[in-house]
Amino acid sequence: MHQLQKLLLAVALAHWQSATLALPRPLPQIADFGENSGPVGGVAPPVPTATAARGGLRGDSSLLGGNAPLPDPANSDSAVVPDPQFVNGQGADAKLGLYLDFNSADPPQPIRGENGATNPGPRTYNYEKLNPDLYAPPGTDAGDMPNLMWPMGLSHNRAGTGRNSGFARQQNTAVLPAAVAMAGVDMRLAPHAYRELHWHTANEWALMLKGCVRVILVDDEGRSFVDDVYAGDVWFFPAGLPHSIQAFEEGAEFLLVFDQGDFTEDGTFLVSELFLRNPVSVLSKDLRAPVDAFNDIPKDQLYIFNGTPAPKNISEQNATSSAGSVTGSGSFTYHWSRQKPFEVPGGSVKILDPLTFPVAKMFSAALVTVQPGAIREVHWHTSSDEWNFFLQGAGRITVYGAPASSRTFDFTAGGVGYVPAAAGHYVENTGTEDLIFLEVLQASKFSDISVAQWLALTPKQVVKDHLHLPDSVIDGLPREKPIILTGNKNLTALAGGGSAF
Ligand SMILES: *[C@@H]1O[C@H](CO)[C@@H](O)[C@H](O)[C@H]1NC(C)=O
Ligand SMILES: *[C@@H]1O[C@H](CO)[C@@H](O)[C@H](O)[C@H]1NC(C)=O
Ligand SMILES: *[C@@H]1O[C@H](CO)[C@@H](O)[C@H](O)[C@H]1NC(C)=O
Repeated sequence: MHQLQKLLLAVALAHWQSATLALPRPLPQIADFGENSGPVGGVAPPVPTATAARGGLRGDSSLLGGNAPLPDPANSDSAVVPDPQFVNGQGADAKLGLYLDFNSADPPQPIRGENGATNPGPRTYNYEKLNPDLYAPPGTDAGDMPNLMWPMGLSHNRAGTGRNSGFARQQNTAVLPAAVAMAGVDMRLAPHAYRELHWHTANEWALMLKGCVRVILVDDEGRSFVDDVYAGDVWFFPAGLPHSIQAFEEGAEFLLVFDQGDFTEDGTFLVSELFLRNPVSVLSKDLRAPVDAFNDIPKDQLYIFNGTPAPKNISEQNATSSAGSVTGSGSFTYHWSRQKPFEVPGGSVKILDPLTFPVAKMFSAALVTVQPGAIREVHWHTSSDEWNFFLQGAGRITVYGAPASSRTFDFTAGGVGYVPAAAGHYVENTGTEDLIFLEVLQASKFSDISVAQWLALTPKQVVKDHLHLPDSVIDGLPREKPIILTGNKNLTALAGGGSAF
């Protein structure tokens, strides 16, 4: 198509879309992101409006230190914050590390117990309200633990091609350098939309979040695999095996986890590009087709695009060779949604690892629910980094790294967390609804070391010599892993003489 034709088509399409698409009209821009306003940096807005250029771009040498007169600092701009607002628990001992709910403070102050000071400077309060443990860290945080969180809300979203077909946003080492072993993608497919037939060098593990898709895959033995995957189900596509994903009429959203930290959605092999990047004479010879059979192949990659509805009857899309189809323990999907969770006081957990889903050789996952006030106990994983995704609610994680550093991060739905191998951590529900999150390990079996169980199975004398804990505490240590523990729903109760649990 000529450029002019393209342009005319685009104009016509835009016209048609604005006429048919019932999107609300954009509101006038309102600068209300919870940011502070001046004076700041010696500028006192609003600046006077000039009708013509005036003044100069630079000052002169009379302003150099030593030349310039010095006014009395007492008469200068004040950095005192008048009437700072504080929230429940903010005055308590910083070592308690209470969860501070900054939502009621406009603006919140980075003070915890005796740590910190009021903040008169430039900032956007909404970030601080979402990240109270970065803004006013627990007094126990120390050292130089790297950043270990990435909200998908900060990812650059890639739109599908065609009209409203879907999108994908990703977390990888480009945005979270510490996450070297795994990367994640949050992908949306509109009704009947496809993720184009493709393959990649990483292994892919996926959890359906919403809706339903059909997945189709062919392996190197010439065996095919087709299945329908529902919310809560999982698939695993080994590196190099070509596959496609198509949404049914309700559309879909799913989470992809790859075993390469630098995986990028923009770096996959695509069937459209494979055809565009080979000589047509070779395609003709390879597929025994006349050259003009390739006249209508896409002129650009499809990526995520709208498709024709898949037949409900899965048998209609089940093509097999003499090698047959992949079945039984080789299956590339697991209908995890139908597995009942293991329930404990404070929440529930279900595990999916190669013991029950053998094809996903090194992917071990736990889907955990933690009730308000409760925690996923302090633990670590012996040999694998952990990739987290928060599906619902709010929670926080403190990561302890050898020998003497720790840092606390706050998470909300859509957030990715990362915990290096062997680093101690917990996940505490800091919200008012159930917290649901996913732990993914690169391990042949899901396992962890529970601090409470470790100490319970260590001779009392040894524990006492090390930690000087009262006998009553040591005697009460659980010999079985609690996994999750209940807690006081009031996370600042300790500040008023209450209890943490
Ligand atoms: C596809 O067909 C094969 C037989 O060729 C069968 O074993 C397999 O179960 C079928 N798969 C589905 C999803 O119907
Ligand atoms: C599903 O499709 C298969 C293969 O085309 C056909 O044999 C079968 O009768 C269909 N089943 C239903 C319920 O329509
Ligand atoms: C939580 O406990 C603190 C300290 O006792 C108390 O001041 C606060 O009102 C409590 N919050 C709620 C929601 O009960």
